[in-house]
Amino acid sequence: MTEKELEELRSRALKELEEVRDLRALEEVRVRYLGRKGLVTAVVKGIKDLPPEARRVIGRRANELKNELEDLIRRRREELLRAAEDQAPGVDLTLPGRPYELGKLHPVTQILQEICEIFLRLGFDIARGPEVETDYYNFEALNIPPDHPARDMQDTFYLENGLLLRTHTSPIQIRTMLSRQPPLRIIAPGKVYRCDSDVRHTPMFHQVEGLLVDREVSFAHLKGLLTYFAREIFGPRTRVRFRPSYFPFTEPSAEMDIQCVICRGRGCRLCGDTGWLEILGAGMVHPHVFQAVGYDPEEWRGLAFGLGVERITMLRFGIDDIRLFYENHLYFLEQF
Ligand code: PHE
Repeated sequence: MTEKELEELRSRALKELEEVRDLRALEEVRVRYLGRKGLVTAVVKGIKDLPPEARRVIGRRANELKNELEDLIRRRREELLRAAEDQAPGVDLTLPGRPYELGKLHPVTQILQEICEIFLRLGFDIARGPEVETDYYNFEALNIPPDHPARDMQDTFYLENGLLLRTHTSPIQIRTMLSRQPPLRIIAPGKVYRCDSDVRHTPMFHQVEGLLVDREVSFAHLKGLLTYFAREIFGPRTRVRFRPSYFPFTEPSAEMDIQCVICRGRGCRLCGDTGWLEILGAGMVHPHVFQAVGYDPEEWRGLAFGLGVERITMLRFGIDDIRLFYENHLYFLEQF
């Protein structure tokens, strides 16, 4: 290393420093010259191997250069920080970034979307209706007259002026048929309300209603459609069964069970030793309902079903307390 070479090293370093525009580039220059394997560091380390006269001159110059560069870099860093501070006062650009967490869809929302996608693929449209309903749409038009005992099946929240919170999504069947002509296939997702609260019931929960009206619709279509649905949600080997049931707005009516997701049919606490779990209610649209909306029951047939989204979500994920969905504990929600 000669004095001349040292001088060249200095001009190069100064030039590069001048071109530095941000802290990262500055750090690169510092490492290149003053880092452990830096160019100036190497010269300083080599001093002891020089012949005595050179050692004195070069030694002094090299140390001067090292101090000069350290000084310049420190000042340049302060300059850059000050410039950044001027642009965004109060922001300390030397602080590490804050990690941010990605949110997730609520498990009930995930399953609700999955259910809707299955029926959208089958050509169903989405229909919606109000959560505050009248007695007419929620009961009367669905073949549930005022003194009908079936009203006791659903613990209704009554509001003022004869309004109520819908107890199921079935009123959307009525609203849809009044505003559209058959044939039609719709599903109607939404919140429903019942005055009920324990491990298995929350006063608000979600249902998806389904309605298909056409000329040739039979109970076989209903069974085929819902079996397909169950296998899409719970897997292709899922076994189902239909049990006779009663709803005023369908005849005949049925409930569909899937084989217990825990014991696979052997019987356990979840399925009450029956081996089966109920997941939805369904049936063929009652002629009275068609009459209420002005469809000719001689010409049109319909199949309808209603399912509880929380219940299906619990069975899919193995959740045993419905209230967990609405307590908003992150340690619960983060698992899905
Ligand atoms: N509305 C019924 C309930 O909430 C479910 C249902 C819908 C049954 C459509 C038959 C047909 O329990």
